[in-house]
Amino acid sequence: MDVVLGVQWGDEGKGRVVDAMAAEYDIVARFGGGDNAGHTLVVGDRTLALRIVPSGVLQAHPQLFIGGGTVVSLEGVLGELGKLAEIGVDISRIKISDRAHVVLPYHAAIDRAKEIERGDGALGTTGRGIGPAYTDKVARAGVTFGDLYRPGVVQARVAANLRANAALLARVGTLPSEDAIVARALEHAATLRPHVVDGVEYLHGALEAGKRVLAEGAQGTLLDVGYGTYPFVTSSHTIAGGACTGLGVGPTAIGRVAGVAKAYSTRVGAGPFPSELHDAVGEKLRERGREFGTVTGRPRRCGWFDAVAARYAARLNGLTSVVITKLDVLSGLDRIAIATAYGSDGGASEFEWFEGWSDDIGGCRSIAALPGAARAYVRRIEAAFGVPVEAVSVGPERSAIAI
Ligand code: GDP
Ligand code: IMO
Ligand code: MG
Repeated sequence: MDVVLGVQWGDEGKGRVVDAMAAEYDIVARFGGGDNAGHTLVVGDRTLALRIVPSGVLQAHPQLFIGGGTVVSLEGVLGELGKLAEIGVDISRIKISDRAHVVLPYHAAIDRAKEIERGDGALGTTGRGIGPAYTDKVARAGVTFGDLYRPGVVQARVAANLRANAALLARVGTLPSEDAIVARALEHAATLRPHVVDGVEYLHGALEAGKRVLAEGAQGTLLDVGYGTYPFVTSSHTIAGGACTGLGVGPTAIGRVAGVAKAYSTRVGAGPFPSELHDAVGEKLRERGREFGTVTGRPRRCGWFDAVAARYAARLNGLTSVVITKLDVLSGLDRIAIATAYGSDGGASEFEWFEGWSDDIGGCRSIAALPGAARAYVRRIEAAFGVPVEAVSVGPERSAIAI
């Protein structure tokens, strides 16, 4: 099993990298997160933003597995399956682990209520109920996909959770009634039944049969609940170890770990961002890179590439290679910086400067074909991670990759 994951604050271009690699795998599996993720694929004139279905879905062969470490909105996944069926995708290839947790309507309501309560300290969550769903999981109060086929269990857990959160929920308007929430969930569960599998049997059966599995990360290393910029993080383990717990495999099952890194840095939501740019260059990156959230539409904060964070991410994930994305966005800048040290206030205090390049690099299909200045910049990023750069993407389209 190989792993592809983000090494910054998410939105590194994981979706497009997984899409490009997926043809060589039998199964592409999401191991964590939920529809807080937005993974964009551009194939020909089609653009698809996936939230929970793994990014191998536009390749004809692989099965798509939503692993036990994820939290899944029933409406969300059904909506996505519907859209995929509409464009001709064979959705019977999409499987959901019985261990995955269900995101219910009150999770999103609690997410929003908690953000209001945090006031100036708001995290800037996606409001999808991800934190509350993981909270219920850890509190042993959640509903798994396996539980969905035991109506008494669903009723009892929903009742208990509504009771436990009554005060908070009263502050964010009305929710459907307990009975309505349960009835909706059971109805959706019946529709999803053909997709729900014993996740451990499914994945290990495949591995034992010699199938090749690609694990797809969501969010990014610096949003990891344990090792990210806590508390400005998501509620799951986004690092490579999360692929083990999220899919129920041992570390010995993992082969390659490819980190996806944007050629500069972005972050959506609140929290530390040492190399952030508050000037016209940051604005330029946002415009040229179309840095607006896939899920919430919020403008992404933009900054220089951060070599300190890169080294940190390489360690946490045991990276074996890196894919750099969006190098084309930097074309036309006079000079480009990489942050190499932080000051005592946590902001970047030292930078290394690189010459820019003005050529349009969108057509480059090999790293050797990149302008010299761009190659030098790529080599410096490679040194920051300490592992080889296996590819550089130079445009959003599937084929816009230099190897
Ligand atoms: P993910 O969450 O890591 O899958 O990334 P997102 O899909 O949220 O954000 C990446 C955005 O950049 C998407 O709009 C992609 O279409 C776009 N993108 C990906 N790679 C490139 C690239 O090499 N160049 C440019 N210009 N855009 C890219
Ligand atoms: P992909 O997979 C970028 C951020 C949110 C917020 C914090 C917590 O597309 O890279 P949450 O809703 O998870 O409780 O929000 O994490 N966040 C992401 N930022 N890309 C993502 O996913 C993200 N998923 C969550 O903006 O700061
Ligand atoms: Mg995204």
